[in-house]
Amino acid sequence: MTTLRVSLTVAALAAALAAGAAACSKSEADKGGGGTQPAASGASTTTATSVVKPDPAKKAAEIFAQRCTPCHGAEGRGDGAASAGLDPKPRNFHDAEWQASVTDEHIQTIVHVGGAAVGKSAAMPSNPDLSDPAVLAAIKDYVRALGKQP
Ligand code: HEC
Repeated sequence: MTTLRVSLTVAALAAALAAGAAACSKSEADKGGGGTQPAASGASTTTATSVVKPDPAKKAAEIFAQRCTPCHGAEGRGDGAASAGLDPKPRNFHDAEWQASVTDEHIQTIVHVGGAAVGKSAAMPSNPDLSDPAVLAAIKDYVRALGKQP
């Protein structure tokens, strides 16, 4: 019974694929490559990029290297190449007093909405695209971890 139902489903799927893809050679490739999950193969081309979610900590390190180091420096000491003309200076994340003075929430907020929105220097840019709370939290963790280094 089960075998019959599966093969019927596969047959229906193959028919749908053939119709949808106008029997182009790609439908053959989809069926073969889909392997274990033929039911998902129809949608796989559009969702493939979002299926693999990178680890937030790894993403945070990449974002820090790309977006924060120009001002805050590779080690987060506030001495990046673009910090020279800035007043106030970008925050040195190794400053223990500063670390103790801010909440986790504040760090996440300023990274997201920027300095101006929280009464700080407008030179600290907003990152409206960083709306994933897990990524924002990981960036905050990254900043906190720098604070634990001398
Ligand atoms: C164009 C330069 C620039 C870039 C890029 C930048 N910052 Fe800043 N950042 C600043 C400046 C300037 C300040 C100091 C703001 C102040 O004290 O008024 C600051 C302050 C901060 C603070 C401390 C806020 C506080 O209340 O003391 C945090 C946290 C911070 N930045 C995180 C980041 C992170 C994380 C990134 C990358 C996503 C980043 N910044 C990118 C310039 C920058």
